[in-house]
Amino acid sequence: MIYPTVEIAATSCAEFIADVLKTRLDAGPTASLAISGGSTPKLMFGTLTKCTLDWSRIHLFWVDERCVPPDDPQSNFRLANESLISVAGIPEANVHRIRGELPPVDAAAACAEDIRTFFGGDAPRFDVIHCGMGADSHTASLFPGEPLIEDRTGICAAVYVEKLKAYRITLLPGALASARQVVVLAAGADKAEAMRAVWEGPLNVLKHPAQILVRESIQARWFVDEAAATLVA
Ligand code: 6PG
Repeated sequence: MIYPTVEIAATSCAEFIADVLKTRLDAGPTASLAISGGSTPKLMFGTLTKCTLDWSRIHLFWVDERCVPPDDPQSNFRLANESLISVAGIPEANVHRIRGELPPVDAAAACAEDIRTFFGGDAPRFDVIHCGMGADSHTASLFPGEPLIEDRTGICAAVYVEKLKAYRITLLPGALASARQVVVLAAGADKAEAMRAVWEGPLNVLKHPAQILVRESIQARWFVDEAAATLVA
């Protein structure tokens, strides 16, 4: 779906996430939401805090995290803590922070263990996963050229991102694909070329990782502003 502004796209995305979570809570004791970082989510988190949700029954996970301490300005946890967790009053026990302060391999192992434990040892099936898309068509922390974009069995991994000269922890495509619902929030003119490549370009997930959210079986609903959609039909 294309919206006039990033604010409307973010609000619509948040309201959709809330509806899916409410439906899951009507059907069972808990619901699970995995969120991404970046700049756009802050708008979406703000609306999410205004939705009527029983956060005591919602478990929050991350799609990816920078390998930094939780109080670092780069931390996706810090962004969510300031604009979602502390505002909505999400119980600490429900917050499954990726421990970016650990060595990357240890952080990834701890993340996978936490997810496996939550899902009772089975493969994860998040109720809602929120992804973004970078101007280079990365999603999660699966950047162009990352061979793990082909991985359909792992839960998460530590990846070294050459262009950032930094490690990230990221969910892997299999964990994204098994979600009940994926939402993608993408906004800004800088995303227009990536949108065109991801939606209409030749299939090449290694070059355009966000294609896994369009061209495969993943149930993804896109929330895009007009600025990002100028090059797609
Ligand atoms: C991150 C995100 C990343 C993000 C995109 C879009 O940790 O940076 O998980 O994948 O979703 O880079 O970011 P914007 O919302 O800032 O455009």
